[in-house]
Amino acid sequence: SIVALGGWRLSPRPILSPGASPGPGNTLDRTPLAIPPLDTGVISADGVRTFELAAQTGETTFTAGVRTPTWGYNGAFGGPTLRAANGEKVRVVVRNELSEVTTTHWHGMKVPALADGGPHQPIHPGKTWAAEWTVEQPAATLWYHPHNHGTTEAHVYRGLAGMFIIDDKVSPEDSPLPSDYGVDDVPVVVADRSFAADGSFDERRRDAAGMLGDTLLVNGTVSPSFAATRELTRLRILNGSTARSYRFELDAGPLLLVGTDSGLLPEPASVAGVTLTPGERAEVVVALEPGQTAMLRSVPHTLGLLGTTERASGTRDAFDVLELTRGEAGSGGGSDAVKHASLSDLTDWVDAGGFFAAAFPAEAEPDKRRTVTLQDNKINHRRMNMARIDEVVTVGDRERWFVTNEHFLPHNLHIHNARFRVHSIDGRTPAAELRGWKDTVYAPPSRTVIIDVEFGTSTDPHLPYMFHCHLLQHEDQGMMAQFVVVRPGEAAGPLDTPAIRD
Ligand code: C2O
Ligand code: CU
Repeated sequence: SIVALGGWRLSPRPILSPGASPGPGNTLDRTPLAIPPLDTGVISADGVRTFELAAQTGETTFTAGVRTPTWGYNGAFGGPTLRAANGEKVRVVVRNELSEVTTTHWHGMKVPALADGGPHQPIHPGKTWAAEWTVEQPAATLWYHPHNHGTTEAHVYRGLAGMFIIDDKVSPEDSPLPSDYGVDDVPVVVADRSFAADGSFDERRRDAAGMLGDTLLVNGTVSPSFAATRELTRLRILNGSTARSYRFELDAGPLLLVGTDSGLLPEPASVAGVTLTPGERAEVVVALEPGQTAMLRSVPHTLGLLGTTERASGTRDAFDVLELTRGEAGSGGGSDAVKHASLSDLTDWVDAGGFFAAAFPAEAEPDKRRTVTLQDNKINHRRMNMARIDEVVTVGDRERWFVTNEHFLPHNLHIHNARFRVHSIDGRTPAAELRGWKDTVYAPPSRTVIIDVEFGTSTDPHLPYMFHCHLLQHEDQGMMAQFVVVRPGEAAGPLDTPAIRD
């Protein structure tokens, strides 16, 4: 009943004793986890993998008898899980069926600025926008969401968000990592909401962090339970909240971390838990014995003063996130035998990728150093200005960013069209969960996080990318800045985008 993984062990959770009374967390009270539809697009005549998304309004029943007005892509809430592979050409055609401007941004994707879907690529009501690019990055769990300056928080909160899975060129079936979507490879989009008396999302309950809801939705399901049918289940956890951070732990023992924001780890790491601030992702593998039940929880944590502000706003900071159950052998429908990868295979697999060590030798000196300071709704003491270029990046340069949160509140930092590794936090080596490729990182109050950044190679002196706090209230209020990527010696700007011309 123990799965070995190169030197460490996952111990199963004690089985509930017979006659134990049903209570919170008991399967009886829980709802099967909704799995967003998988959308692999269609290969169009020009060979491009093409997806279609419609941003629309609808109504969702989160709790029996209560109807909540919601927004979604190709549905009332959330969005399909898009999936493509490294090396492929993709196109996403987005139609705005809302009554206001929105945009669709591919968070974590290396893309030309024109396809980024940030505030400079508005989609007006009734219009469509087509983004096209070649996927040039290793397997990772990315996501997509609106990014219209000033309304990002509201659009995401109402439900516009979906996952975008990138596979390696090697077929995922050859990986020992579970890869059967919805069966043993499971999206876990976590977001908190508050409900008003009439059942609508309450957008008024907010404090300095943003909106901290008292109800957790996982893929839109309240109190979800996932019925595992195989020994190993891979959870792709996305913190899709607009403001809340989580410390995820499994009551059955440590989590096996296999990936972070922008890719798989060089080898799996056993961690007590993972902390995800808004926008961050973690891929973990959970092993369950037949008959075993485990609970993924969010435990109370301290992120600077966040704990204090949560209590002030009367919200909870501990949640049961997702129950995982596995039927007794023979009762689960016969799929148990399909895949019995051993966890120790994982090390060989991810090592074989080789991209990690090759791309960024830890000792390498950066080509450029940059200072980024965070203040109350400001970056480097300035609020977002759509017409201003804040930083100019030369294509191919490796940059070391010194990110200091000078504010007393927790923030984080997300950089578009880039991936980075955390070099250190206040001079200390980052925790295992921060050692992989990232695109978003927590910036604790009064500390300096040093990151080594690698940018996408597309250049355009007139079209900016964003970097910003991913607590969306802060982003909307101006905690965002713009950079362009130029060729060596090329002059930056002036910016020339529809959003500026209009
Ligand atoms: Cu997830 Cu600039 O955003
Ligand atoms: Cu912030």
